[in-house]
Amino acid sequence: MSKVETMRWRDGRLELIDQRLLPERFEYVVCDCAERVAEAIRSMIVRGAPAIGCAAAYGIALEALRTSGEDHPVFDATLEHAFEVLARSRPTAVNLFWALERMRHAWKRMAGQPPGLIAATLLEEAHDIFAEDLRSNLAIGERGAALVPPGARILTHCNAGALATAGHGTALGVIRSAQAQGKNVSVIAAETRPFLQGARLTAWEMVQEDIPVTLVTDNMVGYLMSRGEIDLVVVGADRVAANGDVANKIGTYTIAVLAERHGIPFYVACPLSTIDRSLESGSAIPIEERSPEEVLGFRATRWAAEGVRARNPAFDVTPAALVTALITEKDTVTRPEREKIERLFERR
Ligand code: MRU
Repeated sequence: MSKVETMRWRDGRLELIDQRLLPERFEYVVCDCAERVAEAIRSMIVRGAPAIGCAAAYGIALEALRTSGEDHPVFDATLEHAFEVLARSRPTAVNLFWALERMRHAWKRMAGQPPGLIAATLLEEAHDIFAEDLRSNLAIGERGAALVPPGARILTHCNAGALATAGHGTALGVIRSAQAQGKNVSVIAAETRPFLQGARLTAWEMVQEDIPVTLVTDNMVGYLMSRGEIDLVVVGADRVAANGDVANKIGTYTIAVLAERHGIPFYVACPLSTIDRSLESGSAIPIEERSPEEVLGFRATRWAAEGVRARNPAFDVTPAALVTALITEKDTVTRPEREKIERLFERR
């Protein structure tokens, strides 16, 4: 298990590590309503597909608790608004919508019950979503570790760690579990421009766990692969389409192409809550376009001249054909494709 507590429920409120400040400062931000949670998701205080799903679930619970003293029409309208606000926070990671759907079902199952009882049920549901994500990550870690040879030098991109989930992580969960099995791995963390999740978050998480980590800029990956310095790649995912195409942090596609070119295994680790069977292929996945400011500079420093325009797509899509295996809590799917992905759900 990881030592990092990305989010915690304390005294009736949700506390989130402010991931914008890491690694310089370690601080929790306190959220007491859905609007505040949505803002935390939008501004990347909390980020990573499963983590924003869990946070959104707690956002609904917070709003229900806050208005549980009201009568039904007011309570229902407030809760409906909370769903809308949270659903608008970020578009790509399907875990957010998956978690909101679960919360809506829990609400509808309680139709006609007193608001106080509904609020208590919604808090239980949010706790369950959180606990299930943690369990899934531990299972993903165990499955994935079986694919990791002793002494492997593992490239990862962005942060798919404890910070991005309820704990343990998906891609970093595989690395943590492999290390716990004594595999003596080392990690190459790609910096992940422009928000630097690799440099700021993954490298920090690995230091917390005493797992050797080397930071590289994104454009060094091809060089390292060509020199035989990377044994395998493992990344997380924000949304996997029905055919196995994978949306993940911008730059993932480039790494997958390079891995194919060099015959290096490219693994994607994610829970079933990241798979969106309603989308035929990756081309239908909505890709978030973030502010150009994130590319033109970082925090208070601007490095591009005034008048320069920038693009900032936050994710890209890796075709299923480039994925060696999809590692989920249920099974490891080698060379993912529609029928194999469908089978994952049949056996549930
Ligand atoms: O923009 P972010 O930081 O939310 O993007 C996160 C990623 O792309 C992760 O790889 C993905 O969410 C998987 S997290 C287990």
